[in-house]
Amino acid sequence: MKYGYFDDNNKEYVITSPKTPLPWINYLGCNEFFSLISNTCGGYSFYKDAKLLRLTRYRYNDSPLDTNGKYFYIKDGDTVWNPGWQPTKTPLDAYECRHGIGYSRFMGAKNGVTAKILAFVPMNDTCELQQLVITNDSSEEKQLSVFSYVEWCLWNADDDMKNFQRNLSIGEVEVIGSTIYHKTEYRERRNHFAVYSVNTDIDGFDTSRDDFLGAYNGPDKPDVVLNGQATNSIASGWSPIASHQINIKLAPGESRSFVFVLGYCENPQDLKFESLNVVNKAPAKALLDKYRTDADVEKAFAELNEYWDGLLSRYHLESNNDKVNRMVNIWNQYQCMVTFNMSRSASYYESGIGRGMGFRDSCQDLLGFVHLIPERARERIIDIASTQFEDGSAYHQYQPLTKKGNSDIGSGFNDDPLWLIAGTSAYVRETGDLSILNESVPYDNDESKATTLMEHLKRSFDYIVNHKGPHNLPLIGRADWNDCLNLNCFSEHPGESFQTFGPSEGPVAESVFIAGMFVKYGEEYAQLCEQLNMTDEAAYARAQVEDMVNAVMISGWDGSWFVRAYDAYGNKIGSRECEEGQIYIESNGFCSLAGIGMAEGLPRKALDSVKERLDTKYGVMILQPAYTKYHLELGEISSYPPGYKENAGIFCHNNPWVSIAETTIGRGDRAFEVYKKTCPAYIEDISEIHRTEPYVYSQMVAGADAPRHGEAKNSWLTGTAAWTFVNISQYILGLYPTHSGLSIDPCIPKDFGDFTLTRKFREGTYNIKVTNPSHVEKGVRALVVDGVTVDGTVIPYEAGKKTYNVEVVMG
Ligand code: BGC
Ligand code: NOJ
Repeated sequence: MKYGYFDDNNKEYVITSPKTPLPWINYLGCNEFFSLISNTCGGYSFYKDAKLLRLTRYRYNDSPLDTNGKYFYIKDGDTVWNPGWQPTKTPLDAYECRHGIGYSRFMGAKNGVTAKILAFVPMNDTCELQQLVITNDSSEEKQLSVFSYVEWCLWNADDDMKNFQRNLSIGEVEVIGSTIYHKTEYRERRNHFAVYSVNTDIDGFDTSRDDFLGAYNGPDKPDVVLNGQATNSIASGWSPIASHQINIKLAPGESRSFVFVLGYCENPQDLKFESLNVVNKAPAKALLDKYRTDADVEKAFAELNEYWDGLLSRYHLESNNDKVNRMVNIWNQYQCMVTFNMSRSASYYESGIGRGMGFRDSCQDLLGFVHLIPERARERIIDIASTQFEDGSAYHQYQPLTKKGNSDIGSGFNDDPLWLIAGTSAYVRETGDLSILNESVPYDNDESKATTLMEHLKRSFDYIVNHKGPHNLPLIGRADWNDCLNLNCFSEHPGESFQTFGPSEGPVAESVFIAGMFVKYGEEYAQLCEQLNMTDEAAYARAQVEDMVNAVMISGWDGSWFVRAYDAYGNKIGSRECEEGQIYIESNGFCSLAGIGMAEGLPRKALDSVKERLDTKYGVMILQPAYTKYHLELGEISSYPPGYKENAGIFCHNNPWVSIAETTIGRGDRAFEVYKKTCPAYIEDISEIHRTEPYVYSQMVAGADAPRHGEAKNSWLTGTAAWTFVNISQYILGLYPTHSGLSIDPCIPKDFGDFTLTRKFREGTYNIKVTNPSHVEKGVRALVVDGVTVDGTVIPYEAGKKTYNVEVVMG
């Protein structure tokens, strides 16, 4: 069942029923000011940091779902309704929500009145704009009252929901004309405040929530709206809000348009003490003056669209397959940008007050956006590397505002160092910018301890070399990619503290997955060394990689698939010897895509086992059989009920590893089959089962053991976005950036048909036409670049050349 449809021309998903199975959201903002917005106008806004500078309140874990947002109420006689349906839920005569790229539009109609909202964050300002257009479609004059409503958050979202003894006394507002100022915290900080304003005279306002709603009412039945009369309340403590009342008279056919601005403003830090509590309104005026008219809104909206069109045109596919086209050209790249902006901070599943930026997560996200914003990828790499320790290990997370490592979480996730090589290699291959490798980058943010970035990569690499266990496999540490496989530590209460555990010699659990990563990224490290003419180091790296391959062949192969790990007692995890958890996806995906045992046919066997044992119609599960009992020695993993999350859920993030591995052995049909199973556009039709947004990936889909098999959770902020884009763009469609140029070597289903790609790469635009006359899954029979036949699959890069016309014949 569907709740809407894709409008590819407008790059929108059009939701036609407000009662989606879960709130379906979108993100507004590209730089500093962000809003989350659901299909019923739920959501919240923040400036830079979703925890510390939260502008408006949201209530997670609340019932009904999706409580609080930025609402407009329309009172038409005795009927009160919202254009986005919530919160009054008055049945609408017509409803539509269009989530677009960086904006959302709503249309609601009731009793002959149509209201349209366009919401977006303009490119270079710290505000959300809401253009509200109300039209009288009836044959009689309409007398309406319009009320806006936002509930302020007292900035620190964490404190806001805990520290009531203080917070119920600190709220302050000021109202001048049509502008409502939220000044809480201004006394002690004197540097920031928020505004909510509209470009017309108002007929009243409210700033005290309890006066507006009535103490025992919710936003579904606000007293003020039901009575049709604002009270001009001035909040003093408690819960400040901002609501404007505008009365309008509309002749038949007449429309009125309003521009609302919800903004964040900052004053210079050094304001004099006397000016305390008198908000310096200059920054607000400057902001509001920019958005006074519909023309101002249109101009800002055009700028926003131009920005996104520019970004999304950097990789463009034309094929016979609409679903793949729309994912590649629109939604998958868009989601990659959202993960760049948000990391794992704010979604409807991440509270915005929990996690900072993940070392591993951010490096992987980079794989999906480096072609879109290479300059910002460069900065991000330096930020991430600056949190690394001198021995090559890394803080697992860092804070976005301070960019400092998070010492509460600390380090010890032994896959982390290698992801830095993955991200840097992707950046250098994309841009050819070797200068980044010579940048001086501190360790643990201490400038007195700084080396080149290349030296950081060496320490990443050597961290694995120097931390091997009894089977010469990498030590796993606290966990590798799988956060919940905690083989050296245990917790009586997962999610709380962990204690070290295991034999007295120290934690010796080993990871075959990290071994696979080492083989893949060790080779990429060697290639980076070659770019800097460090031939001895490249040879050393390749010798180490060779040793690792041997270790996996000796101790990491279980007969038909790759073992997952060895626990602290030297027992195998992910082996036929185990009772539960006999086979895992991660080591099989990664060791196969790294090509371990290729000559011996191991990847093929491993991938066949994955298909046989882990596949479902909704995707490939992380492990089987699911853990039915709680295993203290495995850590958090078996704390989940079977079929959910790391305990045999379908982790969408590592499905692409399997698909990529399939492309390395040339099985295009199977690679694409795996791609399709979790691909949003392909599962739109089962939205009632899948439940999360049909235009973006979710982190996890419930596995076969779960009662709700096929149901997704944790949409938007997941490494799945980057990895699925890498898979489809670089491996299935086969356009892979190498140091010497773009390589084109597709691996597609036999019936995929011909296709064209337009790709910006360094200074060039590549127009690539791929034909497949013999319907093969893989193989390039001819590569012709500007009329000249080229051997191999790499389109030779020529510095400064602007256009490349490329023809590829598969066969
Ligand atoms: C989840 C993981 C997540 C981790 C973050 C665990 O509870 O299962 O998916 O990465 O928390 O700390
Ligand atoms: C989500 C985390 O963000 C990611 O870093 C981790 O790899 C997966 N969960 C799997 O545990």
